[in-house]
Amino acid sequence: MLTLSVDNKDIHAEEDVSLLKTCLDNKIYIPHLCFMEESEHQSASCSLCFAEVEGQAVPACTIKVKQGMTVKTDTPQVRSLQQSAFKLMMSVHHIIPKCPAKKTCELVKIARFLGVSLRHKGLPKILKEPETDSSHPLFDIHLNRCVLCGKCIHICRITHDQSMWTFVKRGFDMKICHYGNADISKLSCQDCLRCMKICPVSAITMK
Ligand code: FES
Repeated sequence: MLTLSVDNKDIHAEEDVSLLKTCLDNKIYIPHLCFMEESEHQSASCSLCFAEVEGQAVPACTIKVKQGMTVKTDTPQVRSLQQSAFKLMMSVHHIIPKCPAKKTCELVKIARFLGVSLRHKGLPKILKEPETDSSHPLFDIHLNRCVLCGKCIHICRITHDQSMWTFVKRGFDMKICHYGNADISKLSCQDCLRCMKICPVSAITMK
C-alpha cells in the first residue's frame, strides 16, 4: 500500500495500479473513454484523462501511482487539454436525435462534467462517408459515432485470442473495420457481443 496526494487529499493505493484507476476507485472522476482496466497496455487514444503530476500534465491511464506522488485533477491546464480533446472528438462525431446510446452515452456524461456543449461550433464538422459500414453479417458499424477508443478491438482479442476488429487508414479517415483480419465464422459473434456491449457510444449495433 502507498499514499499519494490527489487534489490536496491523501489517498491510499495499491502498488502497480494506474493513476486513473486509483482516482476512479476513490471517487475522483477524470474523464476517460479508452481506458481498459484489464489491459496491461493502454492505447491512450482519447487524450481525455489528463491530470497534473508534480506540475506536468500526463494521461492518467498511462502512469502508475508512486509513493508520495502529488496529483491535481482540476487545474486550468488539465481542463483546457480535456476540453480541446473533447471538442476535437465532437468535430467528427455525428449527433443524432434518437441515438441508441441514450443516457448511457459517455460523451454526454463527459460534456456535462467539462461544461462544454456536445454541439460545439468552433470547429468544422468532418464526417465520414458512407456513415454506416454494413458489411458485417451481424453488426452495423456507425463510423461517425465511433470515437476510435479501440475497446472493441481489445475485448475481441482477449475473448477470442484474435480480433476481428482492426483500425484502418490514418488521421481523420481512420476507422474500425472487421474484414481482412479474422475469420468471422470462427468467432461466434452471435453468442459473444462483447464488442457491442463495451462500446461507450453505441457505434456497433445489431442489424
Ligand atoms: S483514458 Fe487515458 S487517454 Fe483515453
